[in-house]
Amino acid sequence: MKILLVGSGGREHAIARALHSDASVTELFIAPGNPATAALGTNLALNDILDGEAVAALAVRHEVDLVVVGPEAPLVAGVADHVRAAGIPVFGPSGDAARLEGSKAFAKEIMALAQVPTAMAHVCTTLDQVEAAFDAFGAPYVVKDDGLAAGKGVVVTNDRGEARAHAEACLAKNHEDAPQVVIEEFLDGPEVSLFCICDGKRVIPLEPAQDFKRAYDANEGPNTGGMGSYSPLAWAPEGLVDDVVARVAQPVVDLMAKRGTPFVGLLYCGLALTSRGLRVVEFNVRFGDPETQVVLPRLKTPLGQLLLAAATGSLPKAKLDWTKQGAVAVVLAAQGYPAFVRTGDAIEGIAAAESVPGAHVIQAGTAIRDGKLVAQGGRVLAVVGVGEGISGARETAYQALRAITLEGSHFRTDIAAGME
Ligand code: AMP
Ligand code: GLY
Repeated sequence: MKILLVGSGGREHAIARALHSDASVTELFIAPGNPATAALGTNLALNDILDGEAVAALAVRHEVDLVVVGPEAPLVAGVADHVRAAGIPVFGPSGDAARLEGSKAFAKEIMALAQVPTAMAHVCTTLDQVEAAFDAFGAPYVVKDDGLAAGKGVVVTNDRGEARAHAEACLAKNHEDAPQVVIEEFLDGPEVSLFCICDGKRVIPLEPAQDFKRAYDANEGPNTGGMGSYSPLAWAPEGLVDDVVARVAQPVVDLMAKRGTPFVGLLYCGLALTSRGLRVVEFNVRFGDPETQVVLPRLKTPLGQLLLAAATGSLPKAKLDWTKQGAVAVVLAAQGYPAFVRTGDAIEGIAAAESVPGAHVIQAGTAIRDGKLVAQGGRVLAVVGVGEGISGARETAYQALRAITLEGSHFRTDIAAGME
């Protein structure tokens, strides 16, 4: 089977790694890919990742059997629709179905219709409505940009002035529809990310993971795209996965099919286990980053066949095969991340890191300049440790991370601490 994977981040490197180890995948193309994916397949030039016609043309030219779209932006832009129109199976939802991530207001509407438990929310179009919602819910205030914001559109704060300022900024942004901002009730309790592979009708859950969204140790600092992750979750209540499939993923997939916008691809259920029970925090319509980095190395079932089955509406009933080992990923971020980011510094020590047994490095924001690997993005790379339990995996990841140098970079020292 020949596969074209679209994207260039850490998530795509992790997916490429899993596809590469599937014996039925004979050829792997990545567009545009990154320096690390070039070692697992063939990187193809793609100027604009949102250009559906260009992606479909690459898929046709290289006669691939399956296209896998990694990031949310091309999905929301309808790239999967172009590939499907060219007659090629694609793992990734249509533009219509991708609105589950592309619009928080739409996601709320679908959850209400499918009776999926989530935070109470007010969709506001004026500052007066925002103030009324703050009064109704009280602190901490949760303010969400309605559209895509790369994990940085949400502010959770006790400071009403800060909350109001973010709401104002969201309302000032130009959205395609009328500007709107979502104000939510605060959800207490730990978060869980559950990835569900969907073929439009059926749902197969992967094992849950947890990510660490705040920039600094002890969950201090601003929200980021994710500073680290681990899987499995030893502390998760028994039956959690079945519960999420039955009460969240399957009802949403059923409703999307009934609406004529079937969901084919990965439904990422972002959950909070609150004192009042399970609640959905958000949906994403693609693999999570950096959770993919810890979920896929634990999956023994060949990934390529699974994604092809989903893309062709033929997911098997069978359960997936998992290693019992734990996995921990620690993100190395460039100086300044998540605000202004310094780029261009040399990255050294990847080979040394990968010589630690059980460790591998996933590249996200890297580039080759003058023959050298340099930092190019905020989250530069993730070091993944796979080992006995979370504590073994954690030790491996941090030991390997210490072998890498990048001037000015920072990482959290408490990823998965105490989670064994
Ligand atoms: P989202 O983009 O909706 O996933 O939000 C990003 C992060 O903000 C989540 O992972 C949570 O950590 C936090 N968050 C979002 N919504 C809420 C909520 N209603 N209550 C508490 N924290 C939230
Ligand atoms: N790790 C959070 C996300 O992928 O959205």
